[in-house]
Amino acid sequence: MNFVLDKIGKLATLKGAVQKKGRNINYEDLSIINDACLVVGGGPGKKSKILWAGARSELPSTFKKFKKISAQGRMVLPGFVDSHTHLIFAGDRSNEFEMRLAGRTYQEIARLGGGITNSVKATRDLSAAELYKVALRRVESFLNQGVTTIEVKSGYGLSFESEKKCLEVSAKLKKSRATILSTFLGAHAVAEEFKGRKSQYIREISQNWLPKFHNLCDFVDIFLDEGYFNQEDARALFQSAQKLGIPTKIHADELVLTGGTEIAVEFSSLSADHLLKISDKEVNLLASHEVTATLLPITAFFLKTKYAPARKLLDQGARVALASDFNPGTSPCQDISLVGTLSALEMGMRIEEIVVGLSLNGAYALGLQKTKGALIEGYDSDFFVVDGENPAKLFYEFGSGRPPVKVFSSGEWLDESYATRMNLMEKK
Ligand code: NIG
Ligand code: FE
Repeated sequence: MNFVLDKIGKLATLKGAVQKKGRNINYEDLSIINDACLVVGGGPGKKSKILWAGARSELPSTFKKFKKISAQGRMVLPGFVDSHTHLIFAGDRSNEFEMRLAGRTYQEIARLGGGITNSVKATRDLSAAELYKVALRRVESFLNQGVTTIEVKSGYGLSFESEKKCLEVSAKLKKSRATILSTFLGAHAVAEEFKGRKSQYIREISQNWLPKFHNLCDFVDIFLDEGYFNQEDARALFQSAQKLGIPTKIHADELVLTGGTEIAVEFSSLSADHLLKISDKEVNLLASHEVTATLLPITAFFLKTKYAPARKLLDQGARVALASDFNPGTSPCQDISLVGTLSALEMGMRIEEIVVGLSLNGAYALGLQKTKGALIEGYDSDFFVVDGENPAKLFYEFGSGRPPVKVFSSGEWLDESYATRMNLMEKK
């Protein structure tokens, strides 16, 4: 489908942010064009790209014959990239929420046999078809909010068959209208079957499972933290990933400072995520390396812990991405606006840093910075149209559940016919 999205009041292209590789972002780096238009080319079957973005008065004559769709003076932003979710899980953990309200900590609940293990039981019990249904509903909820690229982790299977089931559900989600990236997180916790044999479990997943999952995952991740895995485990897993040419990501220094950030730098991981407990040393490491620092403020909010040192990271020049961490234990929330609101109010981030954190820098965390997270020529045409003129409005109206007016993803507008089609697909 070729068309011109015309009469855009404010078009945030993020061209400046692209030039600065997502670091040291100022408001000007949103590169907002007033009274703009966006030319989209391609469509179903053919990759839809931005052919041109600029002021209406400068639209090249070659595009003047394209069909025009009016944005009616609204604002247009790049589709958001949620670079860290665990959206494939069954059941819920509201009982653990109550335990926490009664004074138990997240780690205590895990030691009592709850936590990740709890969700693993429910996920193993659910059929692939049912799991796909719940996961697709979650993808649609993100899409409706303008999140057009979503990373999806496994990690609630923890047996070869169940991890395979989760990765296959992810593979099926790739047929949805969101761009889905799939991460193997077999190293989320030690599986029951390997209780007391952590090293053996790591060896098993690194040497036996990973080569077989090679075509099912885009990334490999590990939960390196107290009570879970350590640096030695991460090295064993990441060495196998490197041999297979699979890029790595890491849950780093979330509960306790345990060296995850160091491992991310050692292995040139795409991102180090969480970082709630990092010190100045890790801040400097991230500022001076390519690894993207991914912050997940809903998790800090929900765990009632100190937020990640966002201001320090940003002021030192680190590239900071923001994501939901949507999962049943520490962030049972899919509201992408809340990620921004907490980033502003609790981490002192500026609106422009939040917009870039949720788009271009999320793309960096997935190695997609050349095609996602900005609206410049050659980039994928993923974007959303919202009321108003001020990007701050997106995070000011937090929790309002008000979706963008329109979302364009993978070559088509998201609309009712799309939802209907997906429902039809579900029944098959
Ligand atoms: O990102 N840290 C590891 N994984 C999740 C929590 C998993 C769970 O509690 O189910 C997180 O916080
Ligand atoms: Fe996580």
